[in-house]
Order: sequence, then structure tokens, then C-alpha cells
Amino acid sequence: MRYEVTKDLVTGNTLIDSEHRQLFDAVNALMDACAQGQGRTQLQKTVDFLNSYVARHFRDEEQLQIQSKYPGYPAHKTFHDGYCRQMSETSQSLMRDGPTVKALGDLNRVVGVLISHIRTEDKRLARYIQEQGS
Ligand SMILES: [Fe+2]
Repeated sequence: MRYEVTKDLVTGNTLIDSEHRQLFDAVNALMDACAQGQGRTQLQKTVDFLNSYVARHFRDEEQLQIQSKYPGYPAHKTFHDGYCRQMSETSQSLMRDGPTVKALGDLNRVVGVLISHIRTEDKRLARYIQEQGS
């Protein structure tokens, strides 16, 4: 199964949507690296890329929130910070234990958390930005 930005996940904000697509690409690349039994170095590369991309994307979203004086910023930022920690912990156990069923299950669960965040909070943010601009 590949992660993709399906219609229900499109926020309507060009930057946010394109970053979500790249983020899912990074998750898919990591899943592929696991499935193909790629070596540690390769696996570490995809893990590092995913983690830094998540951080970069969150920074960009937070910038948009600050610029538009989004009232939901504190809560959204708190979620982002907690999520980065979750993703980093999951990545560390993946690298420590290898792509076990448990490690992959945990990774899929963490991606699932992001998907529900996109569906609710990121859509709310995109709607707010759009209303501000109109
Ligand atoms: Fe977000």
C-alpha cells in the first residue's frame, strides 16, 4: 500500500498540499527501503530524510500560521512538536530493531496520526488562510 494525498486530504493550500505529497513520497520511500531489505545505510538515509522533511514542513506551516495570525497556532504547534518526537522515537526503534512487523506497524500508526491531523487541523488552517486572503 502506498500513501497518497487522496481527495479527502487536499487542503486547497498549494504549499501545504505539495509538501504533504512530498512527505508521503518520503514515507513511501522508507517503506520501499524496508520492503526491499535495503542496507542500514540506505535505510538510515530515508529515515533521516523523512524526519528532516517533517520538521521542515511543520516549520513552513507554522510560518503560515504566524503570518496569518492563526488563532489555533499554539495548539497546532504543540501537536507538531509532539509529533516530531513520536516520529523520531519510531525511527530510532526502526533503526535499532530493523524493519520488524512491530516497527513497521508503529511507523504506519504514526503516519496514520498525521493523516488524521491533515484531515482535520490542516484543512481548518487552509480554510482560515483562504478566508483571510479573500
Ligand atoms: Fe499541521
